[in-house]
Order: sequence, then structure tokens, then C-alpha cells
Amino acid sequence: MIKVKHLLKTVSTADGDLDILRGIDFEIPVGSSAAIVGASGSGKSTLLGLLAGMDIATAGQIWIDGELLTDLSEDQRASLRAEKVGFVFQSFQLLPSLTALENVMLPLELAGVAGAAETAERFLTEVGLENRLAHYPTTLSGGEQQRVAIARAFAREPRILFADEPTGNLDTRTGERVVELLFKLNATARTTHICCPMSSWRSNAIFVSEWWRANCSPFYETVPDLAITGP
Ligand SMILES: Nc1ncnc2c1ncn2[C@@H]1O[C@H](COP(=O)(O)OP(=O)(O)OP(=O)(O)O)[C@@H](O)[C@H]1O
Ligand SMILES: [Mg+2]
Repeated sequence: MIKVKHLLKTVSTADGDLDILRGIDFEIPVGSSAAIVGASGSGKSTLLGLLAGMDIATAGQIWIDGELLTDLSEDQRASLRAEKVGFVFQSFQLLPSLTALENVMLPLELAGVAGAAETAERFLTEVGLENRLAHYPTTLSGGEQQRVAIARAFAREPRILFADEPTGNLDTRTGERVVELLFKLNATARTTHICCPMSSWRSNAIFVSEWWRANCSPFYETVPDLAITGP
């Protein structure tokens, strides 16, 4: 269960304080799927970063499986992330000096999982990259880098998977495969997953949008305040 109460995120800018998120409240049950939707700049990535413990809220509380995330130290948040959380970043965040295979293997090895290479290869195959295992990120296309990032997050079969526009750089067919993989993980491993679909999800890649619509409960129905934009 992920529970959020009165969440506030304010940042200082040259023009003064900017409220990115103001008074967000919601609960997401274990094993469910939820989509955070909102216009570009409305605070979706900021909210995901807070939920995953990568950023610190200005005020309010976040509970992950009953544990008050907002009370934890940086080290405690890091170990909670290592134990439970997978994250697909909007900007991929692959390590440039590692190959596709090594990028996916690294978190498995850090977690002491046996057979890291085999698991990494299986997940890279699932995203259609079986012929790109030895490629470095700079020698992969944007969509291929995104798929490596997806394989890396999925390979550990985390309890909670955050995905920030995971199909944003993919063609419809590949996006469709990634979305199927997301929901397979959700069904088989009871992973709770929370996604930001593409900002343009209404006009782009109809099939993928239909998937989100059919399988996710959009936050905007319960969190109308999410669509807060800057000044
Ligand atoms: N550290 C920061 N300092 C100042 N402004 C910030 C900071 N981080 C985010 N913002 C601003 O907060 C707003 C929300 O950013 P965020 O990245 O969460 O939006 P988003 O909903 O994910 O957008 P997109 O759909 O384009 O990815 C944006 O207007 C952004 O410019
Ligand atoms: Mg974003």
C-alpha cells in the first residue's frame, strides 16, 4: 500500500518559491496499477521521485507498506529503494561505461541475485534487444536505451515499479510489448505499478493508450490538484 497525505513540494527559484505539488492525498492498494496523468510540467515526475524516495517532500507524509518514508534518513531511503523499488526514468539514466547487458546486471549483482547475466539477458530479450547485449548506451537508439532502462527496472521484479513515460520513445508495436510486460509483472509478481503514460497519450499510439485506459485508474479523478503548473 502506498499512502500519501497532504504532500507538498516547493522549490526555490530565482523568481521566488514555486509550489510544484500542493496538498496531494491518495492511496494505492498493493498489486494495483495506477497512472498519473497531467499536462507537461504539472508535476508528475516530481511526484514519482518523491514516492520512490529519491527526492524529499517539503511537507506531508508518504507511507510505503506501512513505513513512513518521509521520516527516513537518506541511507534508510536508499535501502528501502534497493529492497522494494524499481524505477524507469524519463531520461533513462543508463551508465555510459557499461554495456546494455551490464547495465541490467548491475542492480541484480548489487542485490546478490544469483544468475544475474541469465536474468538480464532474459529481460533484454523480452524487450526485443537480444541482438544488442554488448552495445554501449551511446551506440543505441533512444528507444533502445529506453528499453534497456525498462529491462533493468523489471529484472529485479520489484514490489513497486515506477515508470516515467516508459513508452515515450517507442513505436506503437514496441510500446505495446512494454505495456504487456508491465501488466504481466503486475499479474504474476503482484507488483504495484505506478506510471506516467505519455503526455500526449490521448493523440498518440492509440493501442497503448487503450491499454492504459483499460488497466489503470487515472489519478486525476481522485487527485484533481495534481494539475498544478508553475507561475
Ligand atoms: N528543481 C526544480 N527547480 C525549479 N523548478 C522545477 C524543479 N523541478 C521541477 N521544476 C518545475 O516543476 C514543474 C513540474 O516538473 P515535472 O518534471 O514534475 O513535470 P512533469 O509533469 O513530469 O512534466 P512532463 O510531462 O513534461 O515530463 C515544471 O514546471 C518544472 O519546470
Ligand atoms: Mg515528467
